[in-house]
Amino acid sequence: MTALTGTLVGPGVDFRLDEQLADLQRRAHEFADRELVPNAARWDREASFPRSAIDAAAREGFLRMTIPTEYGGLAASNVANCILLEEINRGCASTGVTVSVHNSLFSSPVAKHGTPEQKAEYLPKMATGEWLGAYCLSEAGAGSDAAALRCAARRDGDDWILDGAKLWITSGSVADCFVVFARTNEHRTRGISAFLVEKGYAGCSVGKKEVKLGLRGSPTTEILLENCRVPNKNMLGEEGNGFKIALDTLDGGRLGIAAQSLGIMRACLEAATKFACEHDAVGSQQRFQWKIADIATALDAARLLTWRAAHLRDIGENCTMQSAMAKSFASRMCNQAARDAVEICGAAGIGGGADVERLMRDARITEIYEGATDIQRLVVARGVMA
Ligand code: CAA
Repeated sequence: MTALTGTLVGPGVDFRLDEQLADLQRRAHEFADRELVPNAARWDREASFPRSAIDAAAREGFLRMTIPTEYGGLAASNVANCILLEEINRGCASTGVTVSVHNSLFSSPVAKHGTPEQKAEYLPKMATGEWLGAYCLSEAGAGSDAAALRCAARRDGDDWILDGAKLWITSGSVADCFVVFARTNEHRTRGISAFLVEKGYAGCSVGKKEVKLGLRGSPTTEILLENCRVPNKNMLGEEGNGFKIALDTLDGGRLGIAAQSLGIMRACLEAATKFACEHDAVGSQQRFQWKIADIATALDAARLLTWRAAHLRDIGENCTMQSAMAKSFASRMCNQAARDAVEICGAAGIGGGADVERLMRDARITEIYEGATDIQRLVVARGVMA
């Protein structure tokens, strides 16, 4: 495999994409038009997992982004990952979050913190899409306050025994392996460790599936761990370092959700512009123009924040605050864009399978998962005040 190292910024500042990134963007755009746009409304209506799209994404190499080349990956930059996710989410946000979680929340922490044995075991299967990955942090009593998690891991010889219920797990029923965060001692944050748990392990099962407002093609489920025996060799990173791995992983994951917001915003802009042009022969109604101008401006601003944070992560700088800024701003602008797009389309935008109605429902979660907007504000405020 050749590494996909495309970057944004050469000597000085240059926001044009280099050849590799432009090629990735074009391929992802064509993929979305071919595989996603024609099917997204049906996957939403039927709440069905877009398996064919995920298989097609795997064939394109889109599930190998964050995996090192020696394990069959593309070692793609965070900027490349954001460009890919914007294009995919423009076509289908359910497919978008599946790809994002697989790349950013599973393969990325395994590549960064895994032992050579763990990488050799899991990353090649993740690269080809033979297996899908997911991330189990949240619990009923530990959503925004992630360190409050109670899922317990106790040592038993060469194994750990995990007990607890994980909630709101994206891809829960379709994933083959999970990064699970569990408590190995009572210290609030340093008592948390990370484990790689295969869906086939005895005691690991899928619980209730959520019926959701949006992203209905992406299955969100409970993951139940009952007396689940996990070999010690499957601990990811050091014992007690799990919370830092969780938050560092989310710094990258939030870029994926910022990029998802950009993709949904793009779809809103395209739908609203099409409607405005078709329903106003001279394209001169200010009530359309102002909203379209605002969506386009917010989209560009959010993209610059997202790419800036991704670039910082690529060069190994801390991007916690910048990633939170990007996620918070992009997701709020995405929701505003969806409301505006529905308003522009009027009665045609609120029913009958209108794209903007689905986009408005899909947009809502971008402000909730991978850290709600108020958590992003908390992270930004802490960064500013530190
Ligand atoms: N990277 C690495 N380490 C970090 C870090 C980061 N970005 N941020 C903090 N840490 C470290 C701190 O330095 C600290 O280390 P020490 O113990 O050595 O001092 C430790 O982690 C604890 O940090 P805090 O004291 O800041 O922790 P906190 O309890 O105050 O929590 C929080 C901070 C920001 C509120 C955090 O709980 C949070 O991000 N909450 C939101 C949870 C979330 O995003 N959940 C998403 C679920 S996954 C999901 O949604 C996936 C999906 O479906 C798509």
